[in-house]
Amino acid sequence: MRAGTSLLEADGLVRRYAMRRGVFGREVEVRAVDRVSLRLERGRTLGLVGESGCGKSTAGRLVLGMEAPDEGSVSFDGKLLPPPRSAAWRAQRARMQMVFQDPLGALDRRLPIGAQVSEPLEIHGIGTPSERAGRVETLLRDVGLRPDQATRYPHELSGGQRQRAVLARALATSPDLLVCDEPISALDVSIQAQVLNLLVELQERFGTAMLFVSHDLRAVRQVSHRVAVMYLGRIIEEGEPDAVLHDPAHPYARALVSSIPHPGRGGQRIVLQGDPPNPADRPSGCSFHPRCPVASALCARESPALKPRPGDGRLVACHVAQGEVPAGSGLPELRKAA
Ligand SMILES: Nc1ncnc2c1ncn2[C@@H]1O[C@H](COP(=O)(O)OP(=O)(O)O)[C@@H](O)[C@H]1O
Ligand SMILES: [Mg+2]
Repeated sequence: MRAGTSLLEADGLVRRYAMRRGVFGREVEVRAVDRVSLRLERGRTLGLVGESGCGKSTAGRLVLGMEAPDEGSVSFDGKLLPPPRSAAWRAQRARMQMVFQDPLGALDRRLPIGAQVSEPLEIHGIGTPSERAGRVETLLRDVGLRPDQATRYPHELSGGQRQRAVLARALATSPDLLVCDEPISALDVSIQAQVLNLLVELQERFGTAMLFVSHDLRAVRQVSHRVAVMYLGRIIEEGEPDAVLHDPAHPYARALVSSIPHPGRGGQRIVLQGDPPNPADRPSGCSFHPRCPVASALCARESPALKPRPGDGRLVACHVAQGEVPAGSGLPELRKAA
């Protein structure tokens, strides 16, 4: 273990995709991730939250080295990630695992659960066959499955049980980092809380660092030590989950937080004006300015950097929140729906 080095450091990541508009349309460039920097300490969970299409999954793939960034770099445990799919990258995968949204898609329908949980151990040459069998038993118990369920096939388990099996497999090699991309989104609402609780429990027990990617702010808050809010490929606010959720600084984060229903609390919902974000048609300046209730002229010209806000040091990318310009006028009023 090195002192002074974060487990994961991503600096200025940019990932562009070419996208064709319509059948005969010309190709346009989509910047799925646009100068994203992330830092994750050992044993901590960073929540990455934002609407669908804002670049969360792409950021997750870059961090795992499944894709190379067009710009920027990722270091894991103080070393640059090896090129995607190289032998060195494959070897390193024992230390970085992932869990996706759809457990059925992640599992092989033709193989019993136990064999699939054992697979990473075999791939990385860990243990003898009998040691691996013992490890599979322990892992199944760790995720709340019974060891006798090792012989079950994915379709014989419920959705929640399948995601537990996926987790057991991801944890088999005792990874330092787990990237969970919308791990509860495909599950029944009644099961979501159980799987979230399990994630928190496992994270605390094994000290696995986690990048938790979700569009669901409440889920992110429940599991994260830190949260980063994304909008159109960029992180626009970052801080402690309670601080960001109780007192969001960025106008977009405020709208996002206000959209969480609070049963019985009523509350004001901020309805965003303007078109939903389109990464193929990125506005000038701050990407959020056409929809922002407080944007001023500077916001249309200059993209704000993510930096500590004077006063409390909250990381925020907003000229207005930084006090660089007064809140603009003449833009659509902030409409508040009941
Ligand atoms: N492989 C790809 N090829 C082309 N465009 C992509 C690809 N992956 C993602 N994108 C685009 O990049 C943007 C961000 O996508 P994604 O990272 O999946 O967002 P999120 O996970 O937040 O929903 C979207 O506009 C998406 O259409
Ligand atoms: Mg996604």
